This record gives sequence, structure tokens and C-alpha cells, in this order.
Amino acid sequence: ASDMLVDSFGRLHTYLRISLTERCNLRCHYCMPAEGVDLTPSPKLLSQNEIVRIASLFTSSGVDKIRLTGGEPTIRNDIEDICLRLSNLKGLKKLAITTNGITLGRKLPRLKECGLTSLNISLDTLVPAKFEFMTRRKGHQRVIESINAALDLGYNPVKVNCVVMRGFNDDEICDFVKLTQEKPINVRFIEFMPFDGNVWNVKKLVPYSEMFDRVVRQFPNMKRLQDHPTETAKNFRIDGYQGAVSFITSMTQHFCAGCNRLRLSADGNFKVCLFGPSEVSLRDPLRRGADDQELREIIGAAVKRKKASHAGMFDIAKTANRPMIHIGG
Ligand code: GTP
Ligand code: 5AD
Ligand code: SF4
Repeated sequence: ASDMLVDSFGRLHTYLRISLTERCNLRCHYCMPAEGVDLTPSPKLLSQNEIVRIASLFTSSGVDKIRLTGGEPTIRNDIEDICLRLSNLKGLKKLAITTNGITLGRKLPRLKECGLTSLNISLDTLVPAKFEFMTRRKGHQRVIESINAALDLGYNPVKVNCVVMRGFNDDEICDFVKLTQEKPINVRFIEFMPFDGNVWNVKKLVPYSEMFDRVVRQFPNMKRLQDHPTETAKNFRIDGYQGAVSFITSMTQHFCAGCNRLRLSADGNFKVCLFGPSEVSLRDPLRRGADDQELREIIGAAVKRKKASHAGMFDIAKTANRPMIHIGG
């Protein structure tokens, strides 16, 4: 077996996040600046064939989970074919997507047929007017419908990602928890993270400890579940509830020691850490005609440069990175 995906701290990377597009049908404050971001000209974006070729290098080296991100991955018009081809890669066990749910509902039955195994849907508020403020667009009801469509199709759990921001939605935490009572929804409260152009501010960050206190005060019988060591989330369940409640503590208790994640951007850059500014192009050597061996060497060398952990929230906030919309989370 190759050690291409083992870093210098012994972490084996089995999870690849692929951004399919830089475009999005929402304009969330925490993800991009009001003026939008520059889009890479489309000839410089990876084609379907290039995505599959690169993904196959990873799945043949130990990656068994691929997540499609964006931008908003469902607005790429060949998403069905991409899912079909990725889900057929040897060794792949999980094909997941992180989506805002705006156009998901109607595409979901077909995506399921094409091999999509897991769904994470972003929803930060249960109040339509607040949704329009945060996303600068309409569509709250459509997201709710997508969550229901996913449940109806048997996705279990359906994960709902909620980025918690003080003064915006921190008063809704317990309402989100209630969603887990009757349905196999896994609500995940995410600490607000700094990215280029998202006007991050430590005052808007609601730390895990505080979110947790608020939930246990109202739901004292919340019990910790066993987490997988590579997971981003700390998972809990309220006695008798069908779903689960999780916290993604990227800022106050990072989970880098167990990190198994790598990233491929829509323009073909390989990124070994969400907060590591360094990226290496796989697109350029591929278009120059590099063979698999050459690409494997580039990937392996980048993995070996991965740091033990991110630099801490204040340093992250000061370091140049790409805007979230280009990274895909
Ligand atoms: P599962 O595979 O279902 O566990 O989802 P996930 O948490 O890996 O991915 P998702 O796209 O749902 O991301 C949820 C949140 O976790 C987002 O805010 C991501 O930015 C954050 N996240 C995902 N991967 C990493 C990571 O490697 N490091 C950090 N710090 N945050 C991450
Ligand atoms: N901090 C934390 N999570 C974020 N996401 C997007 N921007 C941020 C941020 N600044 C979440 C999205 C989506 C996931 C990929 O990342 O809501 O669910
Ligand atoms: Fe992995 Fe970097 Fe995220 Fe830490 S910050 S968990 S090292 S991707």
C-alpha cells in the first residue's frame, strides 16, 4: 500500500472534499463579502473528466469518503453524472454532499439513484425573515422542503448544519434541538470561523461551552454519544429523541489531531488544511500531461507538509486564506 495519504504525524487521510463550483444561489454573510467574489474563468475549472481522474488517484490510495461542496454543488449541471461516476470508483463507501438545500428537493431522487449516500443541509435559522437577512436571498421554505424530501427518501440521519452567531441565531438553539425529537435529524451547531471577507469577530462567536450550557439547561437528559476519532462533531442525543444534537468546535476545541480531510477546489488546487493557506495545483500538471505517478508525488509531498493543527482562531483571522465560498468548508 502507498503512504501517499499519510502525513508526518501519522494521520491517514481517507476523506476528500471536492468543490464542484465557486458559484452559489445564496449570498450568506459568513461565507462571502457583500460585493461577491471573483469567479475563476470556466476554462480554468476542473472538467468532469478531470475531477474523476483526480478522485480516482485518491480512492486508489485509501480515500473511502468523498464529499461534494461548492459554492453550491447542486447548481453544477453535470452533478448527476459526477455522482454516478464517483460512486462507482473502487473503494468508495460514502458519497456525501453539503448543500444549502435551495434546489436540492427536486434533484434528490435522481441524486440518490446516482449513488449519493449522505446529506448535510445548511440552515441557520427557523425564521424566514432572518434567513433572507443572512443569505441576502429568498428560499427558506425550499430548504425546509429539501430537508423533508431527504427524510422521505430515507436519508438517515439528515444532518442540518447551523452556524451559530451571537445576536443572530443564538436565541434559536433550543428550537433547533426540538427538530431532533420526532425525526432522524442531526442538528449540528457550528462555531463561527474566520475566512477572507466574512467580517469575523470573536464577539459573534458563541463558544461550544456556552451553546452546550444553553442546551442542557433546557434538555437536562442529553447524553454524549460515541464519536468516531476522525469526526468534526461532538455528538449527543436527548433521551427518547430520534435524532441527534452535535457541536462542531473548530475554534475553541479544534479536532485537528484526528483530521482525515483533504480538499480539492473547483479550480483544481489541492489543499491539505482548511486553514492552511498553501495550495498546490493538480490541474496544471494534469493538463501538461502528467502521468499518475507524477500526480501522486505532488499529492504525497503536499500531504507531508500538513501542519499538526491550525494556528488558533486569532492567528487564523489574520492569515490570508480564500473566502469560504471557494473552499467549501
Ligand atoms: P460529516 O462527514 O457528515 O461528519 O460532515 P463534515 O462535518 O465533515 O462536513 P460539513 O461540510 O457538514 O461541515 C460542517 C462544518 O465543519 C463546516 O463548518 C465545515 O467548515 C467544518 N469542517 C469540515 N471539515 C473541517 C476540518 O477539516 N477542519 C475544520 N476546522 N472544520 C471543518
Ligand atoms: N464558519 C463556520 N461554518 C461555516 N460554513 C460556512 N461558512 C462558515 C463559517 N464562517 C458552513 C456552512 C456549511 C458548511 C460547509 O460550512 O454553513 O454548512
Ligand atoms: Fe484538519 Fe486543518 Fe481542519 Fe485541523 S483545521 S481539522 S488540520 S483541516
